[in-house]
Amino acid sequence: MLITAGPTHEPIDAVRFLGNRSSGRLGVHLADAAAAYGWEVTLLLGPVALRATHKGVRTIAFRTCADLQALLAEHASKADVIVMAAAVADYRPKVDPNFFGGKFRRKNEPLTLTLEPTPDLIAGVSATRRPGQTIIGFALEPRDELHASAKAKLERKGLDMVVGNPLETMDSDEIEAFVLHKDGTIVHSPGAEQGRRMPKSKFVDWLITTVEPAITSIAAGKGK
Ligand code: CTP
Repeated sequence: MLITAGPTHEPIDAVRFLGNRSSGRLGVHLADAAAAYGWEVTLLLGPVALRATHKGVRTIAFRTCADLQALLAEHASKADVIVMAAAVADYRPKVDPNFFGGKFRRKNEPLTLTLEPTPDLIAGVSATRRPGQTIIGFALEPRDELHASAKAKLERKGLDMVVGNPLETMDSDEIEAFVLHKDGTIVHSPGAEQGRRMPKSKFVDWLITTVEPAITSIAAGKGK
């Protein structure tokens, strides 16, 4: 199982970056839980302090979307399951080395940063997938748009499952979520329909047992 977790840091100059508030908690807990269930796990981990603790987890660090893209190119084809829990930047500064030259200096005038779109990594992985691989993405969205967005992401990115969770669960210890399958089936985490959350450390056990039957069926070429 290949799991990505954490934010990306996209450099502005040698010392500054654009990032996001992802803590990496869900992906790191998931890596530990999957290893405890017997999976051989590779965790591609963004710039966060948190670490996986299970000895069955091999961790490789990334910083930028480009770093992660290179790691996926190397590791994705070997995995049976790919879980993209990382909060990958959608845009990155278009860094002009001549202009920024190391560290950008203060000037008493407004500064405009030009951003360029990043590649959609999970869509790329899905486009080059081998038969039997399961690809699971995440959708972190405002609550009222969550179902529609999860469905749109599943279709647009060619995923097998999307874990939908509301915006407030980012950088939190707790989560409520659902798993949307390709066939339209939705399974809610315990209590989620009543608005109850659970610790991310427990949620990951629920997530693994919930997605495992679909993974087995996809690996057997039966789909879900
Ligand atoms: N993702 C990715 N590469 C990117 C951006 C996102 O692989 N450059 C993955 C995330 O890891 C996640 C899924 O795509 O599994 C959904 O991420 P999200 O940021 O919600 O989707 P976007 O495609 O960025 O859609 P939007 O910004 O329109 O919500």
